[in-house]
Amino acid sequence: MKADKIKVMSIFGTRPEAIKMAPLVQELSRRAGIESLCCVTAQHREMLDSVLHIFGLTPDFDLNIMEPRQTLSTITTKCLLGLEGVFQRARPDLVLVHGDTSTAFSAALAAYYGQIRVGHVEAGLRTYDKYSPFPEEMNRTLVGDLADLHFCPTPANRENLRREGIEKGVFLTGNTVIDAMTTTVRPDFRFSTEVLNELDYRGKKVIAVTCHRRENYGEPMEHIMAALRHIAETYPEVELVYPVHLSPVVQEVAHRHLDGLANVHLIPPIDVEEMHNLMARCFMVMTDSGGLQEEAPALGKPVLVLRRETERPEAVRAGTVKLAGVEYDHIVALARELLTDPAAYDAMAHAANPYGDGCACRRIADAIEYTFGQRETPPAPFGA
Ligand code: UD1
Ligand code: UDP
Repeated sequence: MKADKIKVMSIFGTRPEAIKMAPLVQELSRRAGIESLCCVTAQHREMLDSVLHIFGLTPDFDLNIMEPRQTLSTITTKCLLGLEGVFQRARPDLVLVHGDTSTAFSAALAAYYGQIRVGHVEAGLRTYDKYSPFPEEMNRTLVGDLADLHFCPTPANRENLRREGIEKGVFLTGNTVIDAMTTTVRPDFRFSTEVLNELDYRGKKVIAVTCHRRENYGEPMEHIMAALRHIAETYPEVELVYPVHLSPVVQEVAHRHLDGLANVHLIPPIDVEEMHNLMARCFMVMTDSGGLQEEAPALGKPVLVLRRETERPEAVRAGTVKLAGVEYDHIVALARELLTDPAAYDAMAHAANPYGDGCACRRIADAIEYTFGQRETPPAPFGA
């Protein structure tokens, strides 16, 4: 048994990574055999800080790299250079990265250059289309090559890695976002965004919307926004709530199409507790986000995915998520079906939890202790 503490540095930079890494950082901090360090790149700023605040996390290192309309190359080079110095100072035994962002890829690459072991949280999701999602599919695949430990949310994710010849250091853990939801969703929750308290969740059909992805910039996003406008104009019983991502590209197109309608609420990004409780109360979700595709099924809410593909097919198979694509007619048709056909709605509105059971962080921490010789046996896989 190894007596020394394992120095584990969790690195993240965007809102979704923070939401999914926060419960893991908390779990690692509770382990006697682990020294847990947290480094943020701040690829996002306000949207990241909001999550840090909710979960009470104070980073040990903050690279503060965000700039308006940042390019992928700037994000990557700033992270690489910044992390080199951080690693020289902190000398971690293991670096943990999350998912498919440019922060995750650069941090895994920087750790590899420093010959530091890498653990990949949310490993093995794939579309096998390198431009969709762009650049996330390639980021995630490259992190898979760089990583020593792979924490897969679902059996299908583990199978993807197996097909690519990655079998060592793979653990089936569930997704940490389900762990995060065990603390955020509360029936008596009061929103600090007042319009969310005022909405008539029973009498109206509240649709929670998010849309921000780079591969949707341009024509696809124009079609999506036009479809959302049509839905709001055609169905007066709809209240469309869209917390708009702070990206200036997204802000411009959303406001241009959707301003000026009484039943459309374009609001600034809301904090994660507000988002989860909004989803828990809404009629349905329309989104191109990855995280919402995992969260809404757990809450029994139908999801229309505003993308051509998804690396999260489990909820599609469970019947709670449909791929709506990015064409105006198809999005409108699928929304119409859910809004006007109660049988179609009921067929999708049931709770499904293919992504986790709320114990992913415990399994990941156990797997780290096992790998570093502090534990005799690996954790039992999610679902076993
Ligand atoms: C990034 C991830 C994407 C993830 C998304 C979650 C990459 C390549 N993409 O995309 O996978 O789905 O985060 O939201 O890593 N901004 C602010 N304040 C903030 C956050 C963003 O002003 O708190 C603005 C900045 O102008 C920034 C722009 O948003 O330039 C876009 O942010 P960026 O991190 O480049 O990409 P995302 O589209 O957020
Ligand atoms: N989210 C949030 N506030 C918002 C919109 C989303 O807290 O205004 C949460 C959402 O519940 C999920 C995560 O942010 O946990 C998803 O992040 P995002 O859509 O930015 O990224 P993706 O999941 O597409 O990578």
